[in-house]
Amino acid sequence: MKRDFLTLLDYSSNEIREIIDIAADIKAKRSPDALRDDLKGKSVVLIFDKPSLRTKLTFETGIYELGGNAMTMADSNGRLGARESIADIAHNLERWVHMIVVRTFGHEIIEDLAKHAKVPVINALTDSFHPCQSLALGLTLREKFGDKKITLAYLGDGNNVCVSHMNYAAKMGYNFVAATPKGYEIPSDMLSNAQSEAAKNGGSTSTTYDPKEAVANADLVYTDVWASMGQESEAAERKKIFMPFQVNEEIMGAAPKSALFSHCLPAHRGDEVTDGVIDSSASIVFDEAENRLHAHKAVMIYLMRQGN
Ligand code: CP
Ligand code: NVA
Repeated sequence: MKRDFLTLLDYSSNEIREIIDIAADIKAKRSPDALRDDLKGKSVVLIFDKPSLRTKLTFETGIYELGGNAMTMADSNGRLGARESIADIAHNLERWVHMIVVRTFGHEIIEDLAKHAKVPVINALTDSFHPCQSLALGLTLREKFGDKKITLAYLGDGNNVCVSHMNYAAKMGYNFVAATPKGYEIPSDMLSNAQSEAAKNGGSTSTTYDPKEAVANADLVYTDVWASMGQESEAAERKKIFMPFQVNEEIMGAAPKSALFSHCLPAHRGDEVTDGVIDSSASIVFDEAENRLHAHKAVMIYLMRQGN
């Protein structure tokens, strides 16, 4: 049975740990001269309806290092579904390629594609979720904290990255605290879902409007842009509302001294994070960015092993 990777909610805690194990293993054994053959003779299409630096290049590099062929379609082709139906696209692609990686707007678009395609579909970001980012964060957290049940504080918009990291934390039994402005909270159904998942796994999920309260026990302080791709017209208004949630030296001063900082990138320096924090020794942003490569290779290996 083919499996897709659309959200972490579709995966058990053990399955997610298994993907992180694969990522750690292939990272440890990586050598530029020793390509693997997990994708030998196979093609993967990458479809991007939104801009990307990290996701696009780490998938392309990962596919190369697994012996496969990457083909990228960027947004100049028009949005998915505009030229022909999602179902028809799926029925074309499944005749040619072995896997589909998609970055798009509404999450229902990728669900529709996955429903109709006989080959695995990977979510490279939708308006609702960014699960690949959470795998990279997961690998980074394992490297920094081992098996410790950590506390992750997220400051800013209750967006796709926030929700996916919340889900990851819930699956791992971590404590997750999000501080958002009023009106920009995590969608309530996603929050209650994560709360019951966290409770099952010995963790907790909570929210506040007070950024200092959120970071008080944090092992990691995390943030993301205040206006996501597709919300550019709201950027100026959001900047005024979100400024109290900026991760700056004062906020990091309210966290334990050992607290680390991360961000999915791209960062808007001076908005959601100051140079003083992102360039500090507490910052692990580039470790997480590096781990996008290993996480993406791992999820592709995992899905190929499931068969398609
Ligand atoms: N973090 C992330 O997904 O980066 P890109 O938008 O550059 O792919
Ligand atoms: N929340 C951001 C993440 C970018 C990687 C966005 O969707 O634009």
